[in-house]
Amino acid sequence: METVIKVSNRLEGSFALGIMCVDEPDTLVAIKKDNPLIIGVSEHGQFIASDVPAVLKHTNQVYYLDDKEIAVLRKDSVQFWGMDKEPLQKKLETVTWSLDSAEKGGYEHFMLKEIMEQPKALRDTIQAAAGCNKDALDSLDITQFDKIVITACGSAFNAGVVARYVFERLCRLSVEVELASEFRYKDAIVDDKTLVILVSQSGETADTIAAMREAKDRGAFTLAIVNVVGSTISKEADVCLLTAAGPEIAVATTKAFSAQLVVLYMLAVRFATSLGQISGDAGLLAEIAALPDKVAEILSHVDSIQKYASTCVGYKSIFFIGRNIDYAIALEGSLKLKEISYIHSEAYAGGELKHGTISLVEEDTLVVALANCERLFSKIMSNVEQVVSRGAKVLLIGSCKDNESDDRITLIGLPEGHELFSPSLSVVVLQLFSYYVAANKGLDIDKPRNLAKSVTVE
Ligand code: BG6
Repeated sequence: METVIKVSNRLEGSFALGIMCVDEPDTLVAIKKDNPLIIGVSEHGQFIASDVPAVLKHTNQVYYLDDKEIAVLRKDSVQFWGMDKEPLQKKLETVTWSLDSAEKGGYEHFMLKEIMEQPKALRDTIQAAAGCNKDALDSLDITQFDKIVITACGSAFNAGVVARYVFERLCRLSVEVELASEFRYKDAIVDDKTLVILVSQSGETADTIAAMREAKDRGAFTLAIVNVVGSTISKEADVCLLTAAGPEIAVATTKAFSAQLVVLYMLAVRFATSLGQISGDAGLLAEIAALPDKVAEILSHVDSIQKYASTCVGYKSIFFIGRNIDYAIALEGSLKLKEISYIHSEAYAGGELKHGTISLVEEDTLVVALANCERLFSKIMSNVEQVVSRGAKVLLIGSCKDNESDDRITLIGLPEGHELFSPSLSVVVLQLFSYYVAANKGLDIDKPRNLAKSVTVE
């Protein structure tokens, strides 16, 4: 242990180590800093791993190691020590995730399984508001704050962009959405009147952890929305709301993203009620509660999406357009496609097309357009006409129907609902579109090249 302490005090950066010594072949020592490390305990041995799904085959009894804590594992015991060599007591946690949830369950890819699990992930996350998240939600008093900042990375950032439209519309509060890798170095203007919301599936993304610590150092109140119990962000944030999506194995997030959206929607409704911007919940909670069934309805007939996607494998570039909250979810559609199909894609606010991007539109360019905002329907349809008139093909996804048929426009209709929550429906079609394009290209969908499930280093 002496050597482990000496060495880890000299190490720089983040690490998670399992250390063995020839003199003590039955002992495994573990230590970590800014990287996740869990210890699984079972009657037939102890395990160390970076994440819970890795040990679920053996046990659901785990310890979450904190930074610079030392774990000494032997066949039938685990002991914990501080860097001061003082013994530590740690709480053994029981993980509620089942082994099945960490296996493919007959699906070809974890991503497709996780897409299909979204109705359950949404129901469990909505119910968590009255369960594991109740105390945390009750402890929040939005009237203390005059600004909301949402910060995150990747898809979690896109969930923040969607949430800004919902919070601003319902709470009439200005919301800033910041990339965590920028927020941590921008000398952010936050203080004790700022609510900083951190969104992360893993709770271990290095830039989001640093953004959280930066916000706390500046006196801001930090609220985390995380999918992994015991993760660094869930433990260090002032308050943590859990998404109940279960373990997410595929690198490209789907069900956890959808669960983040419903937590953010419910938070916005709760804040809007406390701010007196809406009376009661204005029927909005019922709209949110109806989302799992509507998602199940979309998932019950994927053939048209699968068929259309099979015609898109040859594209070198695909554009996504939308207006207002549709633009926000178009960002996620574009990212999902890039992550797993390796096709270049960009998302644009419909009104921006004519300020540059439309110069790229030519014969057979593919444009995915989102149309769920009734009051902006004519606007997005004129954007659709603009690209069709230049030879583009359009995949139109939305609840707004257009009676005009055009063989260059393929419509994937969505169940009706409140436009503010339509991203939860659009994203399912966007996920399936990306999945089937990548599947038709025979790519390694669960482990796309150059990507990791959680980027724990800067
Ligand atoms: C990337 C994942 O590494 O990190 C993305 O591939 C994810 O899917 C992003 O959105 C952020 O991760 P997290 O765990 O902080 O939500």
